[in-house]
Amino acid sequence: MRKMIICLGAAMLLAAFLAPGLAMAAEKQAPAPNLPLQKEFRIVRSMSKQAVACIQCHKAENPGIFNDWAHSRHANANITCLDCHGAQENDPDVAKNHYKVYEKGNNQWATAEYRVPISGVVTPKDCSRCHPDEAKQYSVSKHANTLEIIWKIDPWLNYGLNSDFERLNGCFTCHGTVLKLDKDGNLDPMTWPNVGVGRLNLDGSRGSCSSCHTRHLFSVAEARKPDTCGQCHLGPDHPQWEIWNESKHGSIMRSQGDSWNWTAAPGTWTAGVDYRSPTCAACHMSGSGSVLTTHDVTERISWEMQAPLTVRPENFKPWPAKTTWQAERKKMEAVCKQCHSEVWVKAHFTQMDGAVKEYNEIYFLPAKKKLEELYAKGLLPRDALFKSPLWVEYYELWHHEGRRARMGAAMMAPDYAWWHGFYECKLRFAAFMEGANHLIKTGEKGYVAPYWPAGTGNTTKPWQIFGKKK
Ligand code: HEC
Ligand code: HEC
Ligand code: HEC
Ligand code: HEC
Ligand code: HEC
Ligand code: HEC
Ligand code: HEC
Ligand code: HEC
Repeated sequence: MRKMIICLGAAMLLAAFLAPGLAMAAEKQAPAPNLPLQKEFRIVRSMSKQAVACIQCHKAENPGIFNDWAHSRHANANITCLDCHGAQENDPDVAKNHYKVYEKGNNQWATAEYRVPISGVVTPKDCSRCHPDEAKQYSVSKHANTLEIIWKIDPWLNYGLNSDFERLNGCFTCHGTVLKLDKDGNLDPMTWPNVGVGRLNLDGSRGSCSSCHTRHLFSVAEARKPDTCGQCHLGPDHPQWEIWNESKHGSIMRSQGDSWNWTAAPGTWTAGVDYRSPTCAACHMSGSGSVLTTHDVTERISWEMQAPLTVRPENFKPWPAKTTWQAERKKMEAVCKQCHSEVWVKAHFTQMDGAVKEYNEIYFLPAKKKLEELYAKGLLPRDALFKSPLWVEYYELWHHEGRRARMGAAMMAPDYAWWHGFYECKLRFAAFMEGANHLIKTGEKGYVAPYWPAGTGNTTKPWQIFGKKK
């Protein structure tokens, strides 16, 4: 597709919008004395008058938006505002208020002549017109489907343990909202704005491409940098950004990354040529040697290390991978081998697998068994969850330090694997076991808080994903 779009006088076009003198010439539809007629002809032919109106009016309204777009590869290839925001009159997400801007008459573009339906929401479906492969890969990823996954397994949501505002400003900013219209047919502020990685759109598509490619630059260079992933992949329960940062790979990039070639054309970014140590994208997404670029981040993964019990991705019940872990491990190894020898790489994965096995067998499974014993003996109700300080010890063992230990080992971060990881697992494990054994010995019931703040969240699973209840 990319190759089919011929950029007719794209450079002229850009010059016309960037230089005030030239832009004025285009506005008046009359050539300035020093502007050759031929150039004028090319501009007019290359985009519709409605598309010119978007650019001209918004250049005045929002210079920030215009400027980003003008510096994007899209502007360079003559992809206009209308190509992404264009809508049909009866689309559910059409911006009803926008029709009014064509009635104001406050500038030459504010007239009915330029009126077209537009939508403020631009979904993976919209991008898929020109980027079908990326959209397809993304659509099967855990990113695009995260709302389905978390509603299947998460206690905060299923037991209503946090409020709608806590979810909106926290969980859903990373995971995505279910977009809704309010009673006037405008986007509901309890769901918008949002660019969470698994946003559910009104056209039925899942996700938001601008979680990594921010509008309106849509740059691959940005997506290749770790900060992009780090906006979500950080913090006590999934500190991949901190882990990468402390690894040798991260420290090399911080000391030398300024001189690397971040803007290599899509698919041509080459280990050892354009960069000498990998970022998140380099290991998880970008093409490398014989391994092709992917927009499905579950590729190249051989364990589900975020889960309580580490399992293979094909055995992860809420969203089972369609391939085998061996096939994906081979891909990741091939990425490493662009810069490392076979012996080095295999040994790394032996070390990582060892850490995973020990976490499962020495920490998680015995703790889980003890918790089941408390339930069976009636010492703790199954729905106590966060209201029980003892249950919180169990939760943080797998959800916080247990993840840090495993992920620190996977991505070469010794401080996370040990001090923030296994060391803390030991303390947590000891505290949980002591508390549980005390209850078992004395027959006392575990403490359960009588009151829980802001436990007001809706517990109904979104019907758009799970179907309407009969
Ligand atoms: C005459 C000026 C004018 C023209 C022409 C114009 N816009 Fe707008 N647009 C505005 C103003 C003012 C706003 C902010 C007010 C609003 O949201 O209604 C806006 C808002 C928007 C929004 C945000 C809407 C939302 O609901 O979040 C988008 C997207 C947008 N315009 C895209 C376009 C596109 C695409 C075109 C060309 C088809 C276009 N505009 C043409 C003036 C204009
Ligand atoms: C490559 C596709 C693409 C092009 C081209 C494009 N946009 Fe957007 N625009 C988006 C996306 C994606 C968003 C974020 C909305 C979302 O997450 O669905 C957005 C958001 C917006 C918003 C609302 C954001 C805000 O901060 O208020 C406005 C207004 C807007 N675009 C105007 C424009 C204008 C004007 C142009 C042309 C100069 C343009 N867009 C070109 C994809 C595009
Ligand atoms: C009408 C077609 C069209 C639509 C719609 C479109 N794109 Fe593009 N996009 C292109 C073309 C053509 C290029 C290649 C430009 C070039 O190579 O100079 C491109 C390039 C890109 C790039 C690579 C930029 C770089 O730095 O090399 C990204 C990322 C991208 N698009 C993301 C998106 C996203 C996200 C959306 C939806 C919000 C979108 N595009 C919608 C046509 C489109
Ligand atoms: C800062 C962004 C962010 C916030 C805020 C956030 N999450 Fe997450 N969440 C993530 C990331 C990133 C992962 C992936 C961790 C991994 O795979 O290592 C994740 C993983 C999960 C998982 C595990 C999914 C699986 O595949 O096993 C669940 C469940 C979850 N989050 C629910 C929530 C809920 C509910 C909230 C709010 C109470 C929340 N998250 C808040 C970013 C966030
Ligand atoms: C999780 C982050 C992330 C999300 C979400 C994302 N991308 Fe990308 N995208 C990347 C990275 C990283 C690259 C750079 C690959 C490389 O190094 O060549 C990229 C590259 C691209 C390119 C350049 C061509 C290519 O495939 O390398 C296009 C086009 C593109 N993305 C479109 C999209 C579209 C469309 C969506 C939504 C369906 C999307 N992206 C969502 C991270 C993301
Ligand atoms: C807007 C937030 C957000 C951004 C940005 C983001 N992610 Fe994620 N990522 C998530 C969430 C949420 C999950 C958990 C999905 C689930 O399991 O439900 C996740 C999961 C993952 C997984 C785990 C897949 C698996 O099968 O367990 C990988 C790997 C990943 N992301 C890599 C990346 C990379 C690389 C980038 C940057 C190029 C990135 N992510 C950017 C939110 C984000
Ligand atoms: C040197 C390559 C490399 C770099 C750089 C890297 N990762 Fe990883 N990542 C891995 C490996 C290897 C694994 C374990 C894969 C497996 O399960 O076999 C992993 C696992 C993950 C997981 C999966 C955890 C889970 O749910 O099981 C996430 C999420 C993730 N990485 C995100 C990131 C993010 C975000 C960054 C950047 C801040 C990053 N990675 C940087 C190699 C890398
Ligand atoms: C773009 C090149 C590149 C890629 C790809 C890459 N690495 Fe590295 N890696 C390096 C460099 C450079 C060093 C620093 C070597 C040194 O210590 O002298 C390094 C260091 C390491 C170290 C040593 C860490 C320490 O603290 O001593 C390990 C282990 C490692 N890499 C494993 C991997 C694995 C596993 C992969 C694939 C998942 C991978 N690397 C991918 C370039 C790369």
